[in-house]
Amino acid sequence: VAITAQAKQYPIVIGQGALATVGSLVAQHLPKTQQVLIVSDPTVAPLYLQAVCQRLEAQGLVVGTVITPVAGEGAKTLAVAQAVYQQAHHMGLSRQDAIVALGGGVVGDLAGFCAATYFRGTQFVQLPTTVLAQVDSSVGGKVAVNFENSKNGIGAFYQPNLVLIDPDTLSTLAPREIKAGLAEVLKYALLQHTISPDWPDDFLETLATFSPQRPADYSPIIETCCRLKALVVAADETESKGVRALLNLGHTFAHAYEAITNYAVFLHGEAVALGMDHACQFAVEQGLLPVAQYQRYQAVAQHLGLVGYPSLATQAGVSATALVDLMLHDKKASHGQLTLVLPQNTLGHVVLTQAYSADAMRSFLSRVIR
Ligand SMILES: NC(=O)c1ccc[n+]([C@@H]2O[C@H](COP(=O)([O-])OP(=O)(O)OC[C@H]3O[C@@H](n4cnc5c(N)ncnc54)[C@H](O)[C@@H]3O)[C@@H](O)[C@H]2O)c1
Ligand SMILES: [Zn+2]
Repeated sequence: VAITAQAKQYPIVIGQGALATVGSLVAQHLPKTQQVLIVSDPTVAPLYLQAVCQRLEAQGLVVGTVITPVAGEGAKTLAVAQAVYQQAHHMGLSRQDAIVALGGGVVGDLAGFCAATYFRGTQFVQLPTTVLAQVDSSVGGKVAVNFENSKNGIGAFYQPNLVLIDPDTLSTLAPREIKAGLAEVLKYALLQHTISPDWPDDFLETLATFSPQRPADYSPIIETCCRLKALVVAADETESKGVRALLNLGHTFAHAYEAITNYAVFLHGEAVALGMDHACQFAVEQGLLPVAQYQRYQAVAQHLGLVGYPSLATQAGVSATALVDLMLHDKKASHGQLTLVLPQNTLGHVVLTQAYSADAMRSFLSRVIR
């Protein structure tokens, strides 16, 4: 897959076992790079770091590493970024040298932020190891750290030079994390025909027969997601033309659910699955989507194990009113109207709309959160 962004064109290499080719790929695509600084986390590093270091060193590259003090969201801070800068400084990293992210979306966003800012931008390589990172966060160039209460509060658009995706790394990922990542995959199936009117296949059908236990099943679905995301990024790199906003399907709900539960109840993908279910159901109620299409959504979601999340919301005591307040504070809300991405007609097609009021949404949510 090739990504075309305004600033850069870069390859996404996808394949089982592909991580073993990291040395030669870096040598090929970043020919001026002499040193690399790998950023990883304490869960991923023991699994994959040594092999990656060896492959890079075998190409004559000087390799340094930073392992974040914790795995997960807590590592996406300016303090950890500073530790990366310090190591970069210590190594004498130049702008031709590379910062390499080895891990999930947290490490990718953090390392990318460092790559974007160190000397106003070093080379940057993504080696994503979660489903979410392989289908979504490693592609598209959004990089950030959290700041105060603001998730991704400080960040940039900074495209990588190379993305190398090895689905075999998912063999060690917790089943809950896999499932949560599949929610983002399902999102692309709901967007496919709007992103690309002449999209050739029915991605939803592919997912209906996808088996999370079969490693060989991952490469094709990852590739499809990367292709679809590449089209969106090429059309709207910096989220200024409304095209990239389509990727927020399910996310207006999800961000509110995550925030209201202090990010302690839902994994991001779980909240997205719940949000996509809401989006479909709301679309049915508003006459945008035939109920049979919602049933089809639910069948595929069930097949992927993306069900049961409303009860998490109920257990957490989430209130419809508080949720809608958060949805209004979402950066896309204006004048008491919500900006929503909703499925329309048949799954695969969506509409970006401001036609619905906060009142309508409160009434809907108070019925669906039981
Ligand atoms: N930049 C973007 O466009 C974008 C898009 C979506 C999400 N994000 C960001 O991504 C982050 C979430 O990413 P995530 O879900 O990958 O979380 P993560 O990076 O925290 O990874 C989830 C957990 O899995 C572990 N892990 C990762 N790979 C593993 C492997 N192969 N085997 C075993 N364990 C492994 C990690 O240590 C962590 O504990 C959030 O910070 C979110 O803001 C960014
Ligand atoms: Zn998401």
